Amino acid sequence: MDNSSDVLNKYSLLFKGKVRNIYNYSNDKLLIYTSDRISAFDYVFEDEIKGKGLLLTKMAKFWFKKTSNIITNHISEELIDLPSHIKDSCMLVKKTKVLPIEAIVRGHIAGSAWSAYKSSQKINGLVSKKIYKKYDKFDKPIFTPSTKAEIGGKDINISIAEMRKIIGGELTEEIQNMSIKLYDFAYSFAKERGVIIADTKFEFGLDPDNNLILIDEIFTPDCSRFWLYDKKLKELNHEAFDKQFFRDYLIASNWNKEQIMIPDNIKEKIISKYRTAYDLITYET
Ligand SMILES: Nc1ncnc2c1ncn2[C@@H]1O[C@H](COP(=O)(O)OP(=O)(O)OP(=O)(O)O)[C@@H](O)[C@H]1O
Ligand SMILES: [Mg+2]
Repeated sequence: MDNSSDVLNKYSLLFKGKVRNIYNYSNDKLLIYTSDRISAFDYVFEDEIKGKGLLLTKMAKFWFKKTSNIITNHISEELIDLPSHIKDSCMLVKKTKVLPIEAIVRGHIAGSAWSAYKSSQKINGLVSKKIYKKYDKFDKPIFTPSTKAEIGGKDINISIAEMRKIIGGELTEEIQNMSIKLYDFAYSFAKERGVIIADTKFEFGLDPDNNLILIDEIFTPDCSRFWLYDKKLKELNHEAFDKQFFRDYLIASNWNKEQIMIPDNIKEKIISKYRTAYDLITYET
């Protein structure tokens, strides 16, 4: 159980996402509390990973600041009057109208993109002329959107043409360009610090003046695939420093979609991987 509820219940809870609790803060602001919950395969576990919410919040805030010259994001600088152990897991953000698209960018072939390629030779719905091995780097990052499912639903990969039908051509263009720009920036930044962002996911919303705003979380180990890179040796290791480690654990333990107690050593491994990624990326040179 998280210990946030007593302090935060002065705000009304609008909804509980898989990981975040969203409170109504004011007319135009939301208070997002990132819990220690973990989800995998669209399933939310009751057993929590202590310290995860704090790390995710710190990491997202770090990246929002670093990328604010590329695109406006939802972070509000207004001070929140909350005890620091809760405040540090919270983001005060501008309310936006969330666009029903997950903007996924991939620099390397892994995860569902690899599975699709292996079974159909297709990248982004088109048969690829190039031959790929698992984890290969694409010549240029590719944009592979999916729908953003309602609570309990499953995100579905869609083509860019389908994305245009859902949110219109102009927004599709803008989101695609912004997503690639953000990814290119973060890829170089993180690589310099020994982390490869193999792929990632963004969410966008519209403010009351219909400006495109970057929302939710960015470049965290919950929404990205992180590998370590040895700069001196120029060597890339594909061991996961993100949520993939937990997914792999579930698969290896024949998990059958029910609540489990996550073993202590697995919890420790998850948080230590998240912390490693955080420490490397945010290290001030
Ligand atoms: N600035 C914002 N304005 C409005 N809604 C936001 C804003 N930032 C984030 N959200 C929404 O808050 C919710 C955060 O919940 P959470 O991260 O737990 O994820 P989820 O959507 O349930 O699942 P997942 O992240 O796995 O897709 C998301 O639905 C997200 O779209
Ligand atoms: Mg989310």
